[in-house]
Amino acid sequence: MDALEQLAQYEADATAAIEAAGDAAALEQVRIEFLGKKQGRLKDLQALLGTVPVDQKPVLGKRFNEVKDKVTGILDTKKAGLERPAVAVDGIDVTLPGTPFRYGHRHPISQTIDEFKSIMSRLGFDPVDGPEVEDEFHNFEALNIPSDHPARDPLDNFYLATARSGAGSPLLLRSQTSTVQIRVMEKTQPPIRIVSLGRVYRPDDMDDTHSCMFHQMEGLMVDTNVTMADLKTVLRLFVTAYLGQDVEIRFRPSFFPFTEPSVEVDMRWGDRWLEIGGAGMVDPNVLTAVGYDPEKYTGFAFGLGVERFAMRRYGVRDIRLFYENDVRFLRQF
Ligand code: PHE
Repeated sequence: MDALEQLAQYEADATAAIEAAGDAAALEQVRIEFLGKKQGRLKDLQALLGTVPVDQKPVLGKRFNEVKDKVTGILDTKKAGLERPAVAVDGIDVTLPGTPFRYGHRHPISQTIDEFKSIMSRLGFDPVDGPEVEDEFHNFEALNIPSDHPARDPLDNFYLATARSGAGSPLLLRSQTSTVQIRVMEKTQPPIRIVSLGRVYRPDDMDDTHSCMFHQMEGLMVDTNVTMADLKTVLRLFVTAYLGQDVEIRFRPSFFPFTEPSVEVDMRWGDRWLEIGGAGMVDPNVLTAVGYDPEKYTGFAFGLGVERFAMRRYGVRDIRLFYENDVRFLRQF
């Protein structure tokens, strides 16, 4: 066998041996046998090349290098294949990098609501839910808002068209979570300490601080001897717990049909005051309407805008960002 034939034989033997190697240890044996630097078949071939006539050396030398590179390449490929776990299921290479999978998470408003609930439950207030589609009794009447009151104007509320055509009282999307005060008091006797968080709907024009749908946290406490001081304390503790600093709040005299006296509540933001909601002592008419004795019980109620708090905490300047579901925004929470 001349040198060229020996090279070809070497290549064929090496390829077959690499192919047959079943694991990394076997392959390492093959490598030592065929490509070992100190001894082995490649070394023998190299020695043989040293003995061929000078005029054959360039051709044989070139061929030697080609064969050596080729065998090395096949061995490396095989090695990588043995190091991988399972390969190719039904034509799918499971070792290829996959499409990155991004986990979802709760919406910032849902996160805020969860946090509000947990702060309020530490203050002894149980979370309750109420329906978003309401009747006029719970949205207005029982809250001391008579039928001629401007707050009931169809242009200021989302009445449901279907309800108008049928029998019975018209239905609307609730304009405030105060509805839940009534639903709770109808079913439960004092002492009461609840919060209710959810959506409310008003046909406002959308801008950076207004939306036709937003969220409120309603709070209600009824017991003997509940006072305005309790209201102020609870609100201050809540605001401070959520914003993580000692936040000042102030009450401005206001009017709501279902509280007397009524206040609007502001919290300090630097050298400004930011309105956070309405509150007051539950009106005796409301207590009477649900069958409580207003001589025996007093209570306070408040309704806060959830988005307002989240905007202040996270520095969000436009309320609409919460509803657009742009992942570039949502990913930041
Ligand atoms: N329901 C009132 C509003 O939506 C807020 C409020 C709640 C005021 C409870 C007083 C007591 O504006």
